[in-house]
Amino acid sequence: MHGKTVLVTGGAGYIGSHTVVELINAGYDPIILDDFRNSQPWIIDRIGEITKITPTFHKVDCQDEIAVKEVVKNYPNAIGLIHFAADKAVGESVEKPIQYYQNNIGTLCTVLSAMKSFGIKHLVFSSSCTVYGDADTAIVTEESPVKEATSPYGDTKITSEKIIKYNSDAVEDFGSTLLRYFNPIGAHPSSLIGELPQGVPNNLMPYITQTAKGIREKLTVFGSDYDTPDGTNIRDYIHVMDLAKAHVKALQYLTNTECKSCVTFNLGTGKGTSVLEIIKAFENVNQLKLNYEIGPRREGDVAQIYANAEKAKEVLDWTCEYTLNDALKHSWEWEKGIGE
Ligand code: UD1
Repeated sequence: MHGKTVLVTGGAGYIGSHTVVELINAGYDPIILDDFRNSQPWIIDRIGEITKITPTFHKVDCQDEIAVKEVVKNYPNAIGLIHFAADKAVGESVEKPIQYYQNNIGTLCTVLSAMKSFGIKHLVFSSSCTVYGDADTAIVTEESPVKEATSPYGDTKITSEKIIKYNSDAVEDFGSTLLRYFNPIGAHPSSLIGELPQGVPNNLMPYITQTAKGIREKLTVFGSDYDTPDGTNIRDYIHVMDLAKAHVKALQYLTNTECKSCVTFNLGTGKGTSVLEIIKAFENVNQLKLNYEIGPRREGDVAQIYANAEKAKEVLDWTCEYTLNDALKHSWEWEKGIGE
């Protein structure tokens, strides 16, 4: 390929694979570093089916500094690195805190060290709205305070953001974006790639689709006594393809402006949707009935949070193109095809 080279750690994962598709569509040459611990090698072939270009990949554990440097040294002209490789399950992080710190902080340090060694100056980082914790307002801007984390997972995101900020100050000409995702759902419209949760899903969307498919008996709605209009939690659900496009825009922003600082962006739709609204919309758009019951609250859940994403609109020229119904349809189409 002849596009500009971009390194993508965790590029076979859920958000990573969709971003690789969008990078290829935008004319970039993405190089994937992934050890497939939470993804599948065939996702790479599927990216090839969608884009007609199969990206180069290196099977490498991003905690392994020597191995990562062996790969990165082959791409001295890479214009940037998008770092997805990390563990992401909140509950698991409470049970395995050391794994989460070792993997999420370890891989970040390895990646930053490799970038320094080989002169790669632009980093796009996957952060999360989890950094806002139990926010004082339902709608949050990038200026809203970062709150004490309630899980090791959340703490690794807060700590990673700090490490990247310090690194931006310390390394000459280093520019970075911290992308705070709200709730990614949906799949590529082709149904060739999507989310592949391991074991029982923690997140709402895969739990819904697996219940609809009959893999799970019923969905439990975690609490209906919150201070929200229908009593269930409100979140900002964003189509993974819109999220993927934001990464391309963030990379372009870093390179076009020759950014030398660390810039934070919320990535959400700006709209809040309750759990019951999601269930109803999923049933309507896919013409099915979902088996669900109201259960007790889940520890650590906040009543409502959604994004003010004006900064991403103004600075990155990015807005969401897909609707919630698109996302709910694409999630279901993808789920139906898994295992075929
Ligand atoms: C969670 C994490 C967040 C992380 C994100 C990654 C917590 C507290 N937060 O966000 O840090 O960045 O995943 O995607 O875990 N729900 C049900 N029944 C279910 C599953 C979920 O009612 O079986 C509800 C939850 O109570 C919540 C909503 O669905 O109100 C979304 O839950 P989930 O998909 O787990 O995302 P978050 O908790 O918002």
